[in-house]
Amino acid sequence: MVEDYKNFLAEILIDRKELQERIAELGEKISKDYKGKDLLLVCILRGGVFFTVDLMKRIDIPHVVEFMGISSYGAGARESTGDVRITYDLQINIRGKHVLLVEDIIDSGHTLSKVIEKLKVQNPASLEVCTLLDKASRREVDVPIKYCGFDIEDKFVFGYGLDIDEYFRGLPFIGVVDLDKYQPED
Ligand code: IMP
Ligand code: MG
Repeated sequence: MVEDYKNFLAEILIDRKELQERIAELGEKISKDYKGKDLLLVCILRGGVFFTVDLMKRIDIPHVVEFMGISSYGAGARESTGDVRITYDLQINIRGKHVLLVEDIIDSGHTLSKVIEKLKVQNPASLEVCTLLDKASRREVDVPIKYCGFDIEDKFVFGYGLDIDEYFRGLPFIGVVDLDKYQPED
């Protein structure tokens, strides 16, 4: 069991209201940009779930959602590498569809650049990225981002889909971890 998050919460970076307001703006923009197009949201599991669900409520054009599970191996739990594996694949063919990848956060960029590489070969009509958070200062591989909720500094964050050792995804805000106070389980 992990201890109470309040013991290692350094600050609330983005509160529930700010999140929901920004997601409403993104939904409005996406609805305009994709009007008349066959929009397919691809939610990246598991972190992207909360963002995807709230975003869907704000998109007022017909659209479909699919899920993709991704795992990165080879580094510590808090860093991803180029070794990205698909743990749950799309259940439909994306050929001819306007695909919008929905992700919680882009850090090094390895995860999403691998996903993009894999999806491109299926010839979607378009393939774009919508991320809630962008830690641009950490980027190692370039990822083209069409929609971004918030640019954030290089801090480890949790809540609203983002986990710390798999816990606390359900919090309604984005918090910053005080790594000096956080004691990971062995
Ligand atoms: P990337 O491949 O380095 O861009 O890593 C992206 C993935 O790392 C995200 O989908 C998250 O699952 C995870 N990640 C990166 N930064 C954080 C963070 O601050 N908190 C929680 N998860 C993170
Ligand atoms: Mg993720």
